[in-house]
Amino acid sequence: EDAEKGEYRHFMLKEIFEQPLALQRTLEGRLGGAEDLAQMFGERTAMLRDVQCVQIIACGTSYHAGAVARYWIEALAGVPCQVEVASEFRYRAHVVPEKTLFVTISQSGETADTLAALRAATHAHYLAHLAVCNVPSSSLVRESELALLTRAGPEIGVASTKAFTTQLAALRLLVLALAHARGLGEAALSQHLEELRQLPNLVEKALQMDAAIQTLAEDFVEKQHTLFLGRGTQYPVAMEGALKLKEISYIHAEAYPAGELKHGPLALVDKDMPVVAVAPRDDLLEKLKSNLQEVRARGGELYVFADQQAELQDEAGMRVLAMPTVPESLIPIVYSVPLQLLSYHVAVLRGTDVDQPRNLAKSVTVE
Ligand code: G6P
Repeated sequence: EDAEKGEYRHFMLKEIFEQPLALQRTLEGRLGGAEDLAQMFGERTAMLRDVQCVQIIACGTSYHAGAVARYWIEALAGVPCQVEVASEFRYRAHVVPEKTLFVTISQSGETADTLAALRAATHAHYLAHLAVCNVPSSSLVRESELALLTRAGPEIGVASTKAFTTQLAALRLLVLALAHARGLGEAALSQHLEELRQLPNLVEKALQMDAAIQTLAEDFVEKQHTLFLGRGTQYPVAMEGALKLKEISYIHAEAYPAGELKHGPLALVDKDMPVVAVAPRDDLLEKLKSNLQEVRARGGELYVFADQQAELQDEAGMRVLAMPTVPESLIPIVYSVPLQLLSYHVAVLRGTDVDQPRNLAKSVTVE
């Protein structure tokens, strides 16, 4: 069943729409509360109490999941966290802080650089090696002491979608387990778990934007460049949105943390370069709004994904795409969905090979 497209035109679209189910499966049996979290890795879970630093290693879309997790880990667990692409990490001299948890993230568990980084790390002095992975029988899982499996099912489209959102859900669980082990109270923990329970439904709601996004895609078809903006956890979401667009539509896309606009990309802004912004109601919204004004003042065309609380409206030079209201903890997961749909519809309109984009492979098993 998983290897068939069914009613869908492409595997990618099918996989985008499978996300509520994939998320539900990934969370199943893991949301019970403190006891479930304390059993995440059986007896080894106690090790989480000793973690003083986290090093995340991944490639491509999986790296973006790690980049989101970094914000969560430092904010919620109070532990310093580094994230790096495997191809850089494996070839540079690096210092391993005491009691560092080494975490790899990979859909396939066979990516050559990620595996090589793990193999090198097994000789270094880490507290433990943990793989967040979608394939239980993969080399990465077999060679790691600990594994946290996503349950996205087989992903066929080269551009990763359901693997990414399930990685984020699994990482959220890991962060909660780590935070709890380091003293996050029961009340706060149950609040966070309650939010996670809403995730499949909220993603379902985001999928209802499909028709609106299909129309929106027409504005992008003729463009050569697109800029994606976000702040905080929305910065990696913007990075992932840009990656999706370039992978399958071959439009050059770049992501920037919105606060850096004035240090370069503002020079590129004109009516020919759409600017996509991820703008939920959060602590950084007012800052982001002033960044958006900087774009508008220079004649840029803005496409803003925002919830009602953000109080943004359509006006000249700014189109607002209405998002469901989402707890802050889930924003990066839910806001990724319309960006996946956007890249999908732009690619279809441009007539590219959506599931098998040129020059790319699903799993890069050689260097
Ligand atoms: C390739 C795929 C990407 C994926 C990356 C990492 O580039 O095209 O979709 O994100 O590899 O793959 P992994 O299996 O390690 O997550």
